[in-house]
Amino acid sequence: MAAFEVRPATAADVDAILDLFEEVVAEGRWLGTQAPVDRAERAQRWRAAIDDPRQAMLVAVQDGRVLGHLGLEVATYGVASLGMAVTRADRGRGVGGALLAEAIATARRLGAHKVALQVWPHNAAALGLYRKFGFVEEGRLRRHYRRRSGELWDAVVMGLPLD
Ligand SMILES: CC(C)(COP(=O)(O)OP(=O)(O)OC[C@H]1O[C@@H](n2cnc3c(N)ncnc32)[C@H](O)[C@@H]1OP(=O)(O)O)[C@@H](O)C(=O)NCCC(=O)NCCS
Repeated sequence: MAAFEVRPATAADVDAILDLFEEVVAEGRWLGTQAPVDRAERAQRWRAAIDDPRQAMLVAVQDGRVLGHLGLEVATYGVASLGMAVTRADRGRGVGGALLAEAIATARRLGAHKVALQVWPHNAAALGLYRKFGFVEEGRLRRHYRRRSGELWDAVVMGLPLD
């Protein structure tokens, strides 16, 4: 079995990324997006992202299977925001770290001076990953996001200055 590789996504990857994304959304605990995923709208958005010089879409692939993806967008004011997911079966084997390392390099290449993101306070794996790469907690949005259940969730704001 070949090792996984991280590379820029192509339009041909979009369906597989959507499958993975839907799977992680269905877990209901990690991502901002809640089920059901509007596949057509997402596919259109991600195809546009692949062609946009201010965005990057990365995939981790092994034997033709997409194990993880990361989307990054640089705002006009120079901050790159990112979202990522690794399929449940492939967590804990370095896929997220490899995607994030490449994303930080990509953000630098795109001229960003900082990478920023939000993460749920209960997401220990993501918090651990981001801290490992030098992100620090800059604040907390309290009772900020209304979930379909009616619950109001906090979010931790994290940042990694690149300059
Ligand atoms: C967060 C996520 C992307 C991490 O990806 P991963 O491939 O499992 O991470 P890696 O195996 O590369 O681990 C890298 C580092 O992350 C941290 N980490 C990973 N899993 C962890 C866990 N369960 N608890 C604490 N820290 C953890 C560790 O610092 C780890 O480094 P180490 O192996 O040297 O200890 C993955 O768990 C995931 O996709 N979760 C669901 C979606 C999600 O939460 N997306 C982010 C939303 S903000």
